[in-house]
Amino acid sequence: MPIGVFDSGLGGLTILRSLQRRLPDQAFVYLGDNANTPYGTRDAYDVFDLTTKSVQTLFDKGCELVIIACNTASASALHRMQVSWLPEGHKRVLGVFVPMIENLTRRDWGDNAPPTHTGLENVAVFATQSTIESAAFPREMKFRARDVNVVGHACDGLVDAIESGDRALSMALVEQHVSALLSRLPKPQAAVLGCTHYPIVESMFRAALPEGTKLLSQPAIVAEATSDYLKRHPRYKEVGDTAYYTTGAVEKVGRMAEMFLGQMVNWQKV
Ligand code: DGL
Repeated sequence: MPIGVFDSGLGGLTILRSLQRRLPDQAFVYLGDNANTPYGTRDAYDVFDLTTKSVQTLFDKGCELVIIACNTASASALHRMQVSWLPEGHKRVLGVFVPMIENLTRRDWGDNAPPTHTGLENVAVFATQSTIESAAFPREMKFRARDVNVVGHACDGLVDAIESGDRALSMALVEQHVSALLSRLPKPQAAVLGCTHYPIVESMFRAALPEGTKLLSQPAIVAEATSDYLKRHPRYKEVGDTAYYTTGAVEKVGRMAEMFLGQMVNWQKV
């Protein structure tokens, strides 16, 4: 069966592209909830309702494994979905959040041993307002890594600037947000771009961050983790192409998506 990839809009395409490169034969179904984007300024209840609705749409399209390629939905809705919403059987929902924590702390998600020294002292997280407010990132980091200081910053306005293709505004916002974070954490060891839109402006973050800060690439990390997951759970593999769905206006979404995908694809309305 195809693997479902869900995002509030177009940001998840950065994850999808990386998945397509890592797993070139795999069939995918992408769904962007462009009619309701952005999620980053919504409360957790709203994000849960919208996310479950879209994941159900992907289940109805035959996907049994769905990747939530949205940090906001992963941080504020995924845990509740896994505990109280998922039906019995083989349907699974994974998020983009867990592989980042595993990569940074070098510990498996299921490892519930007390926090250890991981060598990590200062980590910067750039994300949407909802993701930062969920506090999921610092909570899960501290659960595994002793002595780690996680400083998060909500990059207001950046998702809209990226979606509108305004490079100058995106650059100004990245500089402003990085500088605000650096005033609280002058020398981060590592920086996490905790929003699936941000890889589009990764070079701007790299230029604004101090030299030596390790910038984690979420699309590559998620693709590697998915490939590992499929080795352990081959039932979710299926050879095929990618189908693209949106809850929004097909023509407009198609035009905007070209910037994320580097090519025109055929979008269908759900
Ligand atoms: N793609 C979402 C994320 O990774 C951000 C976009 C939105 O606010 O909906 O958090």
